[in-house]
Amino acid sequence: MSYDGAIEALSTDALKFVKDDFVIGLGSGRAATAFVKSLSSFIKIKNYNIRGVPTSLQIKLIAEKGGIPLVEAEQVDHIDIVFDGADQIDSQKFVIKGGGGALLRENILFNLAKKVVVMADKSKFVKNFTRSVPVEVHPQARNLVTYEIKKLGGKAELRLIDRGYPFFTENGNIILDCDFGVIKNPKILSQKIKQVAGVIESGIFIRKPDVIYRAKTGGKFDII
Ligand code: A5P
Repeated sequence: MSYDGAIEALSTDALKFVKDDFVIGLGSGRAATAFVKSLSSFIKIKNYNIRGVPTSLQIKLIAEKGGIPLVEAEQVDHIDIVFDGADQIDSQKFVIKGGGGALLRENILFNLAKKVVVMADKSKFVKNFTRSVPVEVHPQARNLVTYEIKKLGGKAELRLIDRGYPFFTENGNIILDCDFGVIKNPKILSQKIKQVAGVIESGIFIRKPDVIYRAKTGGKFDII
């Protein structure tokens, strides 16, 4: 099922939250890419003086191509708004992120931002989380975290790329995709995951979005 038309349409609609002089967090992935492309044309037409803070090299390349002025998170004392995608959104509006491995910087920006806007297609909305939770881990803690995840009732699997090579994040860490089945209490689980030595970040984000766009078929979308 394709939600492409709807993602583009909602990306354009989300520009209504952008004001001149804003510092804007740029998430990673397909939805964030669609938004960054819309933002790029918008700031040129409006002659807005914004600065973008990228969450990954993936989105940095798209933003650079679109001529968006960029700064890093440590160069700003606040972020006005973040636009990002999500891997799953539960009925309490917690989100799972990290499908692309950018969860650490994404979560820093979520927590720095005054407003968080999440954009995702309908298939990602669930009552309770069911997909695996990406957990960024220091490579030396792989076995420890795998063991501790098991004690928490999960099954950790090392994320691989082609031909069995491990995936490394931009921070030089590995990702363990952790299957917990149905997650009834994401907040507590995320806190427990983050307490394990060697865990850098949990893909269950506790900072809830302020605005959530839901893409539907036929180019339609709504805000929930
Ligand atoms: C990047 O690490 C992720 O958190 C993405 O934001 C998430 O996977 C959503 O990506 P899509 O918009 O490509 O589905």
